[in-house]
Amino acid sequence: MKPVLQVDHLVTSFTGTVRGRPVKAVDDVSITLHQGEIVGLVGESGCGKSTLGRSIVGLETPKSGKVVLDGVDLGALSGRRLREARRAIQYVFQDPYASLNDRQTIGEAIEEALIIGGMASREKRVARTAELLDQVGLAAAVRDRFTRELSGGQRQRVAIARALAVEPRVLICDEPVSALDLSIRAQVMNLFMGLRQDLGVACLFIAHDLALVRQAATRVYVMYLGRIVELGPSAELYERPSHPYTQLLLASVPDANPIVERQRKVPLIAGEIPSPTNPPSGCRFRTRCPLAVEACGQAPPPHKTVSPAHSAACVFAKELYAGQVSAIQLPA
Ligand SMILES: Nc1ncnc2c1ncn2[C@@H]1O[C@H](COP(=O)(O)OP(=O)(O)OP(=O)(O)O)[C@@H](O)[C@H]1O
Ligand SMILES: [Mg+2]
Repeated sequence: MKPVLQVDHLVTSFTGTVRGRPVKAVDDVSITLHQGEIVGLVGESGCGKSTLGRSIVGLETPKSGKVVLDGVDLGALSGRRLREARRAIQYVFQDPYASLNDRQTIGEAIEEALIIGGMASREKRVARTAELLDQVGLAAAVRDRFTRELSGGQRQRVAIARALAVEPRVLICDEPVSALDLSIRAQVMNLFMGLRQDLGVACLFIAHDLALVRQAATRVYVMYLGRIVELGPSAELYERPSHPYTQLLLASVPDANPIVERQRKVPLIAGEIPSPTNPPSGCRFRTRCPLAVEACGQAPPPHKTVSPAHSAACVFAKELYAGQVSAIQLPA
């Protein structure tokens, strides 16, 4: 099956604050998304998740690499054709306040997106707005309310309705539930799963937390300091993480039971995430990795395939997969 979205060797840098040295926020990242698939993208704060998402939708300009949508290289398009192609990829932000105008009613906000999408008939817009509200699980009466009158979960549903208005092929969801209460999170996650099934929209779901995307995502990419360090089918990645970083990231997820959590020995990931202005040579995780050996400093480790569709960029990937070694060292 041909992917809906293919990102090839993407590099996005910023001019850094340290003597103008470039920050390679996204450094040679390749990912694919198939129709109707939810794919997780997880990693610590600052590893480049949003920059990758923003580069895909054109909010940042990549230095090199390709974004290919339905077989068309967006880099080869310009003007109206580029704008039209880009409409097929919509961004859902973490903070729905940021993407909604406080002075518009919900109906106006959604209709605005429909107008941008070229729907000239007012009658059609009204009908489509009703349909969109229904799709995201909001009551029809919400159309006359203002953003400030809604709860966080409802606002996020409006932002999703707006994104869906132009019938996108791909949604980039940048931590869309992180700002929501725990009880509301599950509902909004269920909404994404429903949309995937009903509309066949592909979703890149960005999160800090591996546990959050576990249920929803079929596959997960793990990012560290601008690079993808592991990718695999979500269930297998949870059962058999094959990169030390993924192992530690999984082990740092708190237990839902507070009594268990209080007694749990948490293997912390040593040290701070290094600056992307001056990343470590070789494997970027080696400065924090309990398994690092000399070879890790010499060259970036290539991805090793541990099972079909599952690979990790670590010299010990196979041993980690087989459970022969572990990066997790619990405090005594
Ligand atoms: N506009 C910018 N100018 C300069 N540096 C930037 C800019 N945007 C991001 N960065 C840097 O790029 C790196 C990646 O940032 P990014 O926001 O993509 O990370 P993230 O994984 O989304 O983090 P978080 O989980 O906190 O949202 C960071 O080092 C950040 O400081
Ligand atoms: Mg971010």
